[in-house]
Amino acid sequence: MPATAVIGAQWGDEAKGKITHFLARQATMTVRFNGGPNAGHTVQDAHGTARLHQVPVGALHPGCVGVLAHGVALDIWELRNELLALREQGRPEPVLLLSDRAHLVLPHHRLREEHEGSAARIGTTQRGIGPCYADRAARSGIRLGDLGDVQQIAAHLGGALAQLTPHDAAGRIDPEVVATELVDFRRAFGTHIADTRAAIQSTLDKGLHVLFEGAQGTLLDVDLGTYPFVTSSTTTVHGVGWGSGISAGHIERVIGVAKAYTTRVGEGPMPTEDSSPQGEHLRSVGAEYGATTGRPRRCGWLDLVALRYAHDINAFTELALTKLDVLAGLPEIRVCTGYRVHGTVCERWPSTLDELAAATPVYVSLPGWRDPLSDARTWEELPRAAQDYVRFVEHALSVPVRMVGVGPEAEATIVRPD
Ligand code: GDP
Ligand code: IMO
Ligand code: MG
Repeated sequence: MPATAVIGAQWGDEAKGKITHFLARQATMTVRFNGGPNAGHTVQDAHGTARLHQVPVGALHPGCVGVLAHGVALDIWELRNELLALREQGRPEPVLLLSDRAHLVLPHHRLREEHEGSAARIGTTQRGIGPCYADRAARSGIRLGDLGDVQQIAAHLGGALAQLTPHDAAGRIDPEVVATELVDFRRAFGTHIADTRAAIQSTLDKGLHVLFEGAQGTLLDVDLGTYPFVTSSTTTVHGVGWGSGISAGHIERVIGVAKAYTTRVGEGPMPTEDSSPQGEHLRSVGAEYGATTGRPRRCGWLDLVALRYAHDINAFTELALTKLDVLAGLPEIRVCTGYRVHGTVCERWPSTLDELAAATPVYVSLPGWRDPLSDARTWEELPRAAQDYVRFVEHALSVPVRMVGVGPEAEATIVRPD
Protein backbone atom coordinates (compact mmCIF):
# COMPACT_ATOMS: atom_id res chain seq x y z
CA MET A 1 0.00 0.00 0.00
CA PRO A 2 1.49 3.36 -0.91
CA ALA A 3 1.92 6.28 1.44
CA THR A 4 -0.45 9.03 2.55
CA ALA A 5 0.62 12.54 3.54
CA VAL A 6 -1.41 14.77 5.84
CA ILE A 7 -0.53 18.42 5.21
CA GLY A 8 -1.76 21.62 6.83
CA ALA A 9 -3.29 23.83 4.14
CA GLN A 10 -3.35 27.09 6.14
CA TRP A 11 -1.31 28.56 9.02
CA GLY A 12 -1.23 25.45 11.20
CA ASP A 13 -3.70 24.13 13.80
CA GLU A 14 -6.05 22.87 11.09
CA ALA A 15 -6.81 19.76 13.19
CA LYS A 16 -4.17 17.63 11.51
CA GLY A 17 -3.85 15.73 14.81
CA LYS A 18 -7.44 14.57 14.78
CA ILE A 19 -7.40 13.65 11.09
CA THR A 20 -4.08 11.81 11.43
CA HIS A 21 -5.36 9.86 14.42
CA PHE A 22 -8.38 8.83 12.36
CA LEU A 23 -6.27 7.70 9.39
CA ALA A 24 -3.53 5.98 11.40
CA ARG A 25 -5.87 3.17 12.40
CA GLN A 26 -4.92 1.62 9.07
CA ALA A 27 -1.23 2.48 9.03
CA THR A 28 1.79 0.36 9.94
CA MET A 29 4.03 3.35 10.40
CA THR A 30 3.47 7.04 10.99
CA VAL A 31 6.19 9.60 10.36
CA ARG A 32 6.81 13.13 11.62
CA PHE A 33 9.18 14.72 9.10
CA ASN A 34 9.30 18.42 10.03
CA GLY A 35 9.06 20.80 12.94
CA GLY A 36 9.58 19.95 16.58
CA PRO A 37 7.99 20.91 19.88
CA ASN A 38 6.51 24.02 18.22
CA ALA A 39 3.77 21.69 16.93
CA GLY A 40 0.75 20.98 19.11
CA HIS A 41 -1.50 18.22 17.80
CA THR A 42 -4.64 17.47 19.77
CA VAL A 43 -6.41 14.14 19.98
CA GLN A 44 -9.56 13.43 22.01
CA ASP A 45 -10.36 9.78 22.46
CA ALA A 46 -11.44 7.28 25.10
CA HIS A 47 -8.25 7.94 27.14
CA GLY A 48 -8.86 11.70 27.29
CA THR A 49 -7.20 14.63 25.56
CA ALA A 50 -3.60 14.31 24.39
CA ARG A 51 -1.66 17.34 23.13
CA LEU A 52 1.32 15.99 21.28
CA HIS A 53 4.34 18.09 20.38
CA GLN A 54 6.92 15.42 19.57
CA VAL A 55 5.29 11.99 19.66
CA PRO A 56 3.64 11.24 16.29
CA VAL A 57 -0.12 11.14 16.73
CA GLY A 58 -0.51 7.88 14.82
CA ALA A 59 1.70 6.11 17.38
CA LEU A 60 -1.17 6.32 19.89
CA HIS A 61 -2.55 3.30 18.05
CA PRO A 62 -0.85 0.11 19.20
CA GLY A 63 0.55 -1.54 16.09
CA CYS A 64 1.50 1.72 14.41
CA VAL A 65 5.20 2.57 14.80
CA GLY A 66 5.88 6.28 15.31
CA VAL A 67 8.92 7.63 13.50
CA LEU A 68 10.68 10.92 14.18
CA ALA A 69 12.61 11.32 10.94
CA HIS A 70 15.72 13.44 10.37
CA GLY A 71 13.78 16.60 9.45
CA VAL A 72 12.36 16.82 12.96
CA ALA A 73 13.92 19.17 15.50
CA LEU A 74 14.12 16.80 18.46
CA ASP A 75 13.76 18.01 22.03
CA ILE A 76 14.48 14.96 24.18
CA TRP A 77 13.21 16.62 27.38
CA GLU A 78 9.91 17.44 25.74
CA LEU A 79 9.69 13.90 24.35
CA ARG A 80 10.32 12.33 27.76
CA ASN A 81 7.68 14.52 29.44
CA GLU A 82 5.19 13.68 26.76
CA LEU A 83 5.75 9.94 27.08
CA LEU A 84 5.26 10.31 30.83
CA ALA A 85 2.00 12.21 30.37
CA LEU A 86 0.71 9.54 27.97
CA ARG A 87 1.57 6.84 30.51
CA GLU A 88 -0.30 8.76 33.22
CA GLN A 89 -3.36 8.79 30.96
CA GLY A 90 -3.19 4.99 30.91
CA ARG A 91 -2.33 4.81 27.22
CA PRO A 92 -0.26 1.96 25.80
CA GLU A 93 3.44 2.89 25.43
CA PRO A 94 4.00 4.20 21.88
CA VAL A 95 6.59 2.29 19.86
CA LEU A 96 9.04 4.90 18.54
CA LEU A 97 11.91 4.99 16.10
CA LEU A 98 14.11 8.09 16.22
CA SER A 99 16.41 9.17 13.41
CA ASP A 100 20.10 9.10 14.23
CA ARG A 101 20.37 12.10 11.88
CA ALA A 102 17.79 14.20 13.77
CA HIS A 103 19.13 17.50 15.10
CA LEU A 104 18.66 18.16 18.80
CA VAL A 105 16.92 21.19 20.24
CA LEU A 106 19.27 22.12 23.09
CA PRO A 107 18.71 24.37 26.10
CA HIS A 108 20.88 27.11 24.61
CA HIS A 109 18.63 27.20 21.52
CA ARG A 110 15.71 28.27 23.68
CA LEU A 111 17.89 30.74 25.50
CA ARG A 112 19.11 32.23 22.24
CA GLU A 113 15.54 32.61 21.03
CA GLU A 114 14.49 34.38 24.22
CA HIS A 115 16.96 37.12 23.40
CA GLU A 116 16.42 37.35 19.64
CA GLY A 117 14.44 40.43 18.67
CA SER A 118 13.38 38.72 15.44
CA ALA A 119 11.75 35.82 17.34
CA ALA A 120 9.66 38.25 19.38
CA ARG A 121 8.68 40.14 16.22
CA ILE A 122 7.57 36.92 14.51
CA GLY A 123 5.81 35.72 17.63
CA THR A 124 7.48 32.30 17.64
CA THR A 125 6.54 29.52 20.04
CA GLN A 126 9.88 30.07 21.86
CA ARG A 127 10.74 26.40 21.61
CA GLY A 128 14.21 26.91 20.13
CA ILE A 129 13.15 25.85 16.64
CA GLY A 130 14.78 28.66 14.63
CA PRO A 131 18.17 28.40 16.41
CA CYS A 132 18.15 24.58 16.11
CA TYR A 133 17.53 24.64 12.35
CA ALA A 134 20.00 27.54 11.99
CA ASP A 135 22.74 25.44 13.64
CA ARG A 136 21.81 22.54 11.36
CA ALA A 137 22.27 24.72 8.26
CA ALA A 138 25.47 26.20 9.66
CA ARG A 139 26.73 22.65 10.32
CA SER A 140 27.24 23.30 13.99
CA GLY A 141 24.32 21.30 15.40
CA ILE A 142 24.37 18.05 17.36
CA ARG A 143 22.63 15.00 15.91
CA LEU A 144 21.08 12.25 17.99
CA GLY A 145 23.29 9.57 16.46
CA ASP A 146 26.44 11.52 17.25
CA LEU A 147 25.95 11.44 21.03
CA GLY A 148 28.78 9.40 22.46
CA ASP A 149 31.30 11.01 24.73
CA VAL A 150 30.00 13.23 27.56
CA GLN A 151 33.14 15.37 27.72
CA GLN A 152 33.11 16.03 23.99
CA ILE A 153 29.44 17.08 24.04
CA ALA A 154 29.98 19.22 27.15
CA ALA A 155 32.83 21.00 25.35
CA HIS A 156 30.60 21.60 22.32
CA LEU A 157 27.82 22.99 24.55
CA GLY A 158 30.31 25.10 26.48
CA GLY A 159 31.47 26.63 23.19
CA ALA A 160 27.88 27.42 22.18
CA LEU A 161 27.16 28.97 25.60
CA ALA A 162 30.28 31.10 25.39
CA GLN A 163 28.76 32.83 22.38
CA LEU A 164 25.74 33.97 24.39
CA THR A 165 26.14 37.09 26.47
CA PRO A 166 27.19 36.17 30.03
CA HIS A 167 23.96 37.60 31.41
CA ASP A 168 21.81 35.28 29.21
CA ALA A 169 23.71 32.16 30.07
CA ALA A 170 24.89 32.82 33.60
CA GLY A 171 24.20 29.83 35.76
CA ARG A 172 21.25 28.72 33.72
CA ILE A 173 22.79 25.82 31.84
CA ASP A 174 25.41 23.40 33.07
CA PRO A 175 27.05 21.82 29.98
CA GLU A 176 28.13 18.69 31.91
CA VAL A 177 24.61 18.04 33.22
CA VAL A 178 23.04 18.53 29.78
CA ALA A 179 25.66 16.34 28.10
CA THR A 180 25.10 13.55 30.64
CA GLU A 181 21.32 13.70 30.13
CA LEU A 182 21.78 13.49 26.38
CA VAL A 183 24.06 10.47 26.56
CA ASP A 184 21.72 8.77 29.06
CA PHE A 185 18.82 9.36 26.71
CA ARG A 186 20.73 7.80 23.83
CA ARG A 187 21.49 4.74 25.97
CA ALA A 188 17.89 4.44 27.17
CA PHE A 189 16.49 4.51 23.64
CA GLY A 190 19.17 2.10 22.37
CA THR A 191 18.07 0.34 19.21
CA HIS A 192 15.10 2.69 18.83
CA ILE A 193 17.60 5.18 17.44
CA ALA A 194 18.25 4.16 13.87
CA ASP A 195 18.50 5.07 10.21
CA THR A 196 14.81 5.91 9.87
CA ARG A 197 15.10 6.54 6.12
CA ALA A 198 16.02 2.89 5.65
CA ALA A 199 13.27 1.74 8.05
CA ILE A 200 10.56 3.71 6.23
CA GLN A 201 11.88 2.51 2.87
CA SER A 202 11.75 -1.11 3.96
CA THR A 203 8.18 -0.70 5.28
CA LEU A 204 7.11 0.76 1.95
CA ASP A 205 8.96 -1.97 0.04
CA LYS A 206 6.91 -4.57 1.94
CA GLY A 207 3.78 -2.92 0.61
CA LEU A 208 2.71 -1.67 4.05
CA HIS A 209 0.94 1.61 4.61
CA VAL A 210 2.98 4.60 5.82
CA LEU A 211 1.39 7.84 6.97
CA PHE A 212 3.36 11.10 6.92
CA GLU A 213 2.18 13.57 9.56
CA GLY A 214 2.85 17.15 8.58
CA ALA A 215 3.38 19.76 11.27
CA GLN A 216 2.52 23.47 10.91
CA GLY A 217 0.90 24.49 7.62
CA THR A 218 1.71 25.46 4.04
CA LEU A 219 1.60 29.22 4.74
CA LEU A 220 4.19 28.78 7.51
CA ASP A 221 6.68 27.12 5.12
CA VAL A 222 10.13 28.66 5.41
CA ASP A 223 10.26 29.45 1.67
CA LEU A 224 6.69 29.42 0.40
CA GLY A 225 4.97 30.91 3.45
CA THR A 226 4.68 34.53 4.57
CA TYR A 227 8.42 34.95 5.18
CA PRO A 228 9.79 36.00 7.65
CA PHE A 229 6.59 35.27 9.60
CA VAL A 230 7.07 31.54 9.15
CA THR A 231 8.62 28.57 10.87
CA SER A 232 12.05 27.24 9.90
CA SER A 233 11.17 23.98 8.16
CA THR A 234 9.52 22.72 4.99
CA THR A 235 5.87 22.29 5.91
CA THR A 236 4.43 21.26 2.54
CA VAL A 237 4.30 17.85 0.88
CA HIS A 238 7.85 18.56 -0.32
CA GLY A 239 8.85 18.28 3.33
CA VAL A 240 8.20 14.53 3.14
CA GLY A 241 11.26 14.05 0.93
CA TRP A 242 13.20 16.84 2.69
CA GLY A 243 12.65 15.47 6.16
CA SER A 244 12.44 11.71 5.69
CA GLY A 245 14.57 10.96 2.64
CA ILE A 246 11.71 9.06 0.98
CA SER A 247 10.81 9.78 -2.64
CA ALA A 248 7.58 11.70 -3.17
CA GLY A 249 6.79 9.04 -5.78
CA HIS A 250 5.57 6.79 -2.96
CA ILE A 251 2.81 9.18 -1.94
CA GLU A 252 -0.55 8.33 -3.40
CA ARG A 253 -2.88 10.41 -1.21
CA VAL A 254 -2.06 13.98 -0.25
CA ILE A 255 -4.70 15.09 2.21
CA GLY A 256 -4.91 18.83 2.73
CA VAL A 257 -6.35 19.68 6.13
CA ALA A 258 -8.16 23.02 6.24
CA LYS A 259 -10.40 24.60 8.82
CA ALA A 260 -13.79 25.75 7.56
CA TYR A 261 -12.52 29.25 8.46
CA THR A 262 -9.01 30.64 8.99
CA THR A 263 -6.82 31.04 12.07
CA ARG A 264 -3.28 32.14 12.68
CA VAL A 265 -1.20 32.37 15.83
CA GLY A 266 1.76 34.71 15.94
CA GLU A 267 2.45 37.75 13.80
CA GLY A 268 2.34 38.26 10.04
CA PRO A 269 -0.21 38.96 7.34
CA MET A 270 -3.62 37.29 7.39
CA PRO A 271 -5.88 38.99 4.83
CA THR A 272 -9.20 37.58 6.07
CA GLU A 273 -8.61 38.29 9.77
CA ASP A 274 -11.83 39.59 11.33
CA SER A 275 -11.47 41.57 14.53
CA SER A 276 -15.20 42.22 14.81
CA PRO A 277 -17.52 40.27 17.16
CA GLN A 278 -17.83 37.64 14.40
CA GLY A 279 -14.11 36.89 14.63
CA GLU A 280 -14.50 36.74 18.41
CA HIS A 281 -17.42 34.33 17.91
CA LEU A 282 -15.15 31.99 15.91
CA ARG A 283 -12.49 32.18 18.64
CA SER A 284 -14.83 31.42 21.51
CA VAL A 285 -16.96 28.73 19.80
CA GLY A 286 -13.91 27.15 18.15
CA ALA A 287 -11.85 27.37 21.39
CA GLU A 288 -9.10 28.95 19.33
CA TYR A 289 -6.23 29.04 21.78
CA GLY A 290 -2.82 27.58 20.87
CA ALA A 291 -2.17 23.94 21.85
CA THR A 292 1.52 24.74 22.47
CA THR A 293 1.55 28.24 23.96
CA GLY A 294 -2.10 28.88 24.93
CA ARG A 295 -2.04 32.14 22.95
CA PRO A 296 -5.37 33.29 21.47
CA ARG A 297 -5.46 32.52 17.75
CA ARG A 298 -6.36 35.24 15.28
CA CYS A 299 -9.59 34.28 13.51
CA GLY A 300 -11.24 35.12 10.21
CA TRP A 301 -13.06 33.78 7.20
CA LEU A 302 -12.06 31.00 4.83
CA ASP A 303 -9.54 32.27 2.30
CA LEU A 304 -9.83 30.50 -1.05
CA VAL A 305 -6.90 32.44 -2.54
CA ALA A 306 -4.67 30.99 0.16
CA LEU A 307 -6.18 27.51 -0.19
CA ARG A 308 -5.80 27.52 -3.97
CA TYR A 309 -2.14 28.42 -3.48
CA ALA A 310 -1.76 25.57 -0.99
CA HIS A 311 -3.40 23.21 -3.47
CA ASP A 312 -1.07 24.35 -6.28
CA ILE A 313 1.96 23.61 -4.10
CA ASN A 314 0.80 20.29 -2.64
CA ALA A 315 -1.50 18.92 -5.38
CA PHE A 316 -3.97 17.68 -2.78
CA THR A 317 -5.83 14.58 -3.85
CA GLU A 318 -8.51 15.45 -1.30
CA LEU A 319 -9.35 17.83 1.50
CA ALA A 320 -10.41 17.32 5.11
CA LEU A 321 -12.54 20.33 6.06
CA THR A 322 -12.50 20.55 9.84
CA LYS A 323 -14.43 22.47 12.51
CA LEU A 324 -17.47 22.97 10.29
CA ASP A 325 -19.56 22.76 13.47
CA VAL A 326 -18.06 26.08 14.64
CA LEU A 327 -19.89 27.95 11.86
CA ALA A 328 -23.35 26.83 13.06
CA GLY A 329 -25.57 29.65 14.24
CA LEU A 330 -24.03 32.35 12.04
CA PRO A 331 -26.66 34.07 9.88
CA GLU A 332 -24.20 34.41 6.98
CA ILE A 333 -20.81 32.94 6.26
CA ARG A 334 -18.27 34.90 4.29
CA VAL A 335 -15.70 33.31 1.99
CA CYS A 336 -12.85 35.17 0.35
CA THR A 337 -12.73 34.36 -3.37
CA GLY A 338 -10.12 36.92 -4.51
CA TYR A 339 -7.95 39.83 -3.45
CA ARG A 340 -8.21 43.40 -4.60
CA VAL A 341 -4.66 44.68 -5.09
CA HIS A 342 -4.28 48.31 -6.19
CA GLY A 343 -7.78 48.33 -7.63
CA THR A 344 -7.49 45.05 -9.55
CA VAL A 345 -9.10 41.81 -8.42
CA CYS A 346 -6.83 38.78 -8.66
CA GLU A 347 -6.87 35.20 -7.48
CA ARG A 348 -3.12 34.72 -7.28
CA TRP A 349 -1.41 34.49 -3.89
CA PRO A 350 1.09 37.37 -3.63
CA SER A 351 4.71 36.30 -3.18
CA THR A 352 5.93 39.34 -1.25
CA LEU A 353 4.85 40.90 2.04
CA ASP A 354 4.30 44.29 0.37
CA GLU A 355 1.84 42.81 -2.10
CA LEU A 356 0.08 40.89 0.67
CA ALA A 357 -0.19 44.04 2.74
CA ALA A 358 -1.87 45.77 -0.20
CA ALA A 359 -4.39 42.92 -0.69
CA THR A 360 -7.92 43.33 0.61
CA PRO A 361 -10.24 40.34 0.44
CA VAL A 362 -13.19 40.12 -1.90
CA TYR A 363 -15.96 38.16 -0.20
CA VAL A 364 -19.02 36.24 -1.25
CA SER A 365 -21.66 35.60 1.36
CA LEU A 366 -23.19 32.15 1.80
CA PRO A 367 -26.25 31.29 3.90
CA GLY A 368 -25.59 29.95 7.39
CA TRP A 369 -27.51 27.27 9.28
CA ARG A 370 -28.91 27.23 12.77
CA ASP A 371 -28.73 23.61 13.91
CA PRO A 372 -25.56 22.35 15.64
CA LEU A 373 -23.62 19.72 13.70
CA SER A 374 -21.87 17.95 16.56
CA ASP A 375 -24.15 14.90 16.55
CA ALA A 376 -24.00 14.37 12.78
CA ARG A 377 -22.03 11.30 11.73
CA THR A 378 -23.10 11.00 8.10
CA TRP A 379 -23.17 13.44 5.20
CA GLU A 380 -26.95 13.11 4.96
CA GLU A 381 -27.35 14.32 8.56
CA LEU A 382 -25.77 17.70 7.76
CA PRO A 383 -28.17 20.59 7.10
CA ARG A 384 -28.51 21.53 3.44
CA ALA A 385 -26.70 24.86 3.91
CA ALA A 386 -23.72 23.10 5.53
CA GLN A 387 -23.54 20.63 2.63
CA ASP A 388 -23.71 23.55 0.19
CA TYR A 389 -20.84 25.28 2.00
CA VAL A 390 -18.66 22.18 1.59
CA ARG A 391 -19.68 21.84 -2.07
CA PHE A 392 -18.85 25.50 -2.67
CA VAL A 393 -15.31 24.95 -1.36
CA GLU A 394 -14.65 21.82 -3.36
CA HIS A 395 -15.99 23.33 -6.58
CA ALA A 396 -13.94 26.50 -6.11
CA LEU A 397 -10.76 24.45 -5.65
CA SER A 398 -11.61 21.45 -7.83
CA VAL A 399 -10.62 19.09 -5.01
CA PRO A 400 -13.04 16.71 -3.34
CA VAL A 401 -13.70 17.21 0.37
CA ARG A 402 -13.60 13.62 1.63
CA MET A 403 -13.70 14.28 5.38
CA VAL A 404 -15.64 16.81 7.39
CA GLY A 405 -14.95 17.58 11.06
CA VAL A 406 -17.94 18.31 13.30
CA GLY A 407 -16.38 18.18 16.76
CA PRO A 408 -13.08 17.64 18.61
CA GLU A 409 -13.76 13.98 19.47
CA ALA A 410 -12.12 11.33 17.31
CA GLU A 411 -15.47 9.99 16.16
CA ALA A 412 -16.80 13.43 15.16
CA THR A 413 -15.52 12.95 11.62
CA ILE A 414 -17.77 12.42 8.63
CA VAL A 415 -16.27 10.45 5.77
CA ARG A 416 -18.05 11.10 2.52
CA PRO A 417 -18.62 8.25 0.15
CA ASP A 418 -16.62 8.46 -3.12
P1 GDP B 1 -3.26 20.63 14.65
O1 GDP B 1 -2.07 21.38 15.13
O2 GDP B 1 -3.50 20.83 13.19
O3 GDP B 1 -3.25 19.18 15.02
O4 GDP B 1 -4.52 21.28 15.40
P2 GDP B 1 -4.62 21.64 16.97
O5 GDP B 1 -4.78 20.39 17.73
O6 GDP B 1 -3.55 22.58 17.35
O7 GDP B 1 -5.96 22.50 16.98
C1 GDP B 1 -7.18 21.98 16.57
C2 GDP B 1 -8.19 22.14 17.72
O8 GDP B 1 -9.50 21.92 17.25
C3 GDP B 1 -7.99 21.12 18.83
O9 GDP B 1 -8.36 21.70 20.05
C4 GDP B 1 -8.96 20.00 18.46
O10 GDP B 1 -9.40 19.25 19.59
C5 GDP B 1 -10.10 20.78 17.89
N1 GDP B 1 -10.84 20.11 16.80
C6 GDP B 1 -10.39 19.24 15.89
N2 GDP B 1 -11.35 18.95 14.98
C7 GDP B 1 -12.43 19.66 15.36
C8 GDP B 1 -13.74 19.80 14.79
O11 GDP B 1 -14.09 19.26 13.75
N3 GDP B 1 -14.60 20.62 15.48
C9 GDP B 1 -14.25 21.28 16.62
N4 GDP B 1 -15.15 22.07 17.20
N5 GDP B 1 -13.02 21.17 17.15
C10 GDP B 1 -12.12 20.39 16.52
P1 IMO C 1 0.92 22.82 14.43
O1 IMO C 1 1.73 21.64 13.97
C1 IMO C 1 0.35 27.15 14.41
C2 IMO C 1 3.97 29.61 14.22
C3 IMO C 1 4.30 30.44 15.45
C4 IMO C 1 5.02 31.61 14.79
C5 IMO C 1 5.78 30.95 13.66
C6 IMO C 1 7.24 30.64 13.97
O2 IMO C 1 0.32 22.66 15.76
O3 IMO C 1 -0.05 23.24 13.37
P2 IMO C 1 8.42 28.80 15.51
O4 IMO C 1 8.30 28.55 16.99
O5 IMO C 1 8.07 27.63 14.66
O6 IMO C 1 9.74 29.39 15.13
O7 IMO C 1 7.33 29.97 15.24
O8 IMO C 1 5.10 29.75 13.36
N1 IMO C 1 3.78 28.16 14.48
C7 IMO C 1 2.60 27.55 14.48
N2 IMO C 1 1.34 28.05 14.36
N3 IMO C 1 0.54 25.82 14.52
C8 IMO C 1 1.78 25.31 14.62
O9 IMO C 1 2.02 23.98 14.63
C9 IMO C 1 2.88 26.19 14.64
N4 IMO C 1 4.22 26.02 14.75
C10 IMO C 1 4.75 27.23 14.64
O10 IMO C 1 3.15 30.84 16.13
O11 IMO C 1 4.07 32.48 14.21
MG1 MG D 1 -1.55 22.78 16.60
